[in-house]
Amino acid sequence: MTSEVVAASSVPAPGRAQRVREIATELRGLRGALIPILHAVQEELGYVDQPDVPVIADVLNLSVAEVHGVVTFYKDFRRTPAGRTVVAICQAEACRSVGAVELAEHAKRTVGCGFGETTYDGRITLDEVFCFGNCALGPAVQVGERLHGRVTPARLDALLGDAR
Ligand code: FES
Repeated sequence: MTSEVVAASSVPAPGRAQRVREIATELRGLRGALIPILHAVQEELGYVDQPDVPVIADVLNLSVAEVHGVVTFYKDFRRTPAGRTVVAICQAEACRSVGAVELAEHAKRTVGCGFGETTYDGRITLDEVFCFGNCALGPAVQVGERLHGRVTPARLDALLGDAR
């Protein structure tokens, strides 16, 4: 495996709070700004931390409860740092029809954690995704930044080899 997603979780508060405020301020003019702000925070800082929520709420003049509700409702938003390698398995219909559900069960057993969770040693985070746009080559799995098609359990084991 050559590509890894490294959690960008080491930005300390208050540097983090300052950066979250800057991101929120830059994007607050967008229609429905909360979602793009949360995505931007996650992309740059690795996840949406609990202390980020009141900062974003303040910039958008929303209640903390409103922002917290959105963060917890959408599975897209990670609330803890990701593992060193993120393994995302498509669970949308086309991939499900060619074995993605069984592949996911195999991955959970092999890695030892469920979707949205990270292994105890911080090496792997397992995520579910609903369509990579690679439907003709399902089951589709992204390991780090690289997308793979027609992934069997054996192939997944090989892909995970370096990450474990
Ligand atoms: S359904 Fe899996 S990539 Fe589209």
